[in-house]
Amino acid sequence: MRTLEEKEKILDRYKPTHYKVGVVSKEMIGYLLDKFRGSEKIIKYKEAGSKGPVVMNYSPDREGMKPWFEPVQDLVWDLLGSNCYVWGSNIFRVEKPHIAHNDDYTEKNYPIYKTVVLPLEISKPTNFVTFDQAYLDGPVKLFRGYDPVPESYYNKSLTDYSDIINYTDKPFDKEMHEKYLSHIPIEALHGLTVEKVVSWTPGNAIIFDMGRIHSASNFITQDIKYKIGYSIFTAKDYN
Ligand SMILES: [Fe+2]
Repeated sequence: MRTLEEKEKILDRYKPTHYKVGVVSKEMIGYLLDKFRGSEKIIKYKEAGSKGPVVMNYSPDREGMKPWFEPVQDLVWDLLGSNCYVWGSNIFRVEKPHIAHNDDYTEKNYPIYKTVVLPLEISKPTNFVTFDQAYLDGPVKLFRGYDPVPESYYNKSLTDYSDIINYTDKPFDKEMHEKYLSHIPIEALHGLTVEKVVSWTPGNAIIFDMGRIHSASNFITQDIKYKIGYSIFTAKDYN
């Protein structure tokens, strides 16, 4: 668990979500898709009963810096500046949109920084939603009002929202819900407000603070069968 001081330090450097258009070349996208197709993939927490998504997990922190990753590291430094490092990453293929969650990590005491999401493959553009709220007491999925509360294999299933930073305790915007987030019961979005809706399109990069709550938009209503993307997790180098 973080101390109040550690949380303040993290929140002090919070910035609005940054959306960069056309920063990932077709070659780079092809390179990453090749890597994904050619590599061993796992269903995370399968032993615990998880049914997906399918991911290729690479952690420079655990596995050491592998040569294939160097262009990705350079891209991240271009996007974020060089005083940060990548500690983990996942190339994922999902057939169902993610629900509201944060990307916090507390197993190691990293000074968590930004998530960089690189959309890699999708049949047509979809959206990605970030909220004005954040949660810094561990990785969570937001399940207020669910009965039963679904099991979550890595993230904690959060039903009490009182520790969410910037929590409003007001009902979620109905139009936003219908337009982008109809895969989530509206009650589970209670107390949240939308920061940004950005396009999830290959070539672009979505950059947000790891504690910030975010969600995919409901691409099933757009008749999209799957999407492949790359989530890259960084920590701040204080030196
Ligand atoms: Fe995420």
